[in-house]
Amino acid sequence: MDLKQYVTIVEDWPKKGISFKDITTIMDNGPAYKYATDQIVQYAKQVGAELIVGPEARGFITGCPVAYALEVGFAPVRKPGKLPREVISQEYALEYGTNTLTMHKDAVKAGQKVLIVDDLLATGGTVEASIKLIEELGGEVVGCAFLIELDDLKGREKIAGYDIFTLMNY
Ligand code: PRP
Ligand code: MG
Repeated sequence: MDLKQYVTIVEDWPKKGISFKDITTIMDNGPAYKYATDQIVQYAKQVGAELIVGPEARGFITGCPVAYALEVGFAPVRKPGKLPREVISQEYALEYGTNTLTMHKDAVKAGQKVLIVDDLLATGGTVEASIKLIEELGGEVVGCAFLIELDDLKGREKIAGYDIFTLMNY
């Protein structure tokens, strides 16, 4: 299946000059959503994932069906103030300013093989912060899977040394 057919390119959104890759037109198409999920499930099996971690919010809609299919757990990476129990935090740089991501302290077991799933690898800030959180909790990041990689933003370089799986490149 040519998944790119189901990505909608929205020019000049959210601001002028940005060519936004809208994946909601994958998700609202049953066969396309299943196909994309199945590809990541196959990869997850190859790397032996025992837990899926997905960053809020689009990492939930890409990661949760993978966890369901594998019958492994899913642990959320969330913005501050969203998780009710004790958390660890990781700050990362944005174009302007910083963002913080958090995980529950008991979300990952020591030595657990973790696959990070998100919709998009752009600058790599989100996945890099997620890796740091998982490793601080003692998990082993066995791979990072994305629907889309934006090559020009070189996110891949930020997480050099980690295994990366992407379904589409732009
Ligand atoms: C988007 C996207 C990835 C991240 C990629 O999330 O879903 O998580 O940006 O960018 P990066 O590689 O430069 O970090 P966003 O923070 O817009 O939030 P959302 O998932 O809640 O829409
Ligand atoms: Mg996101």
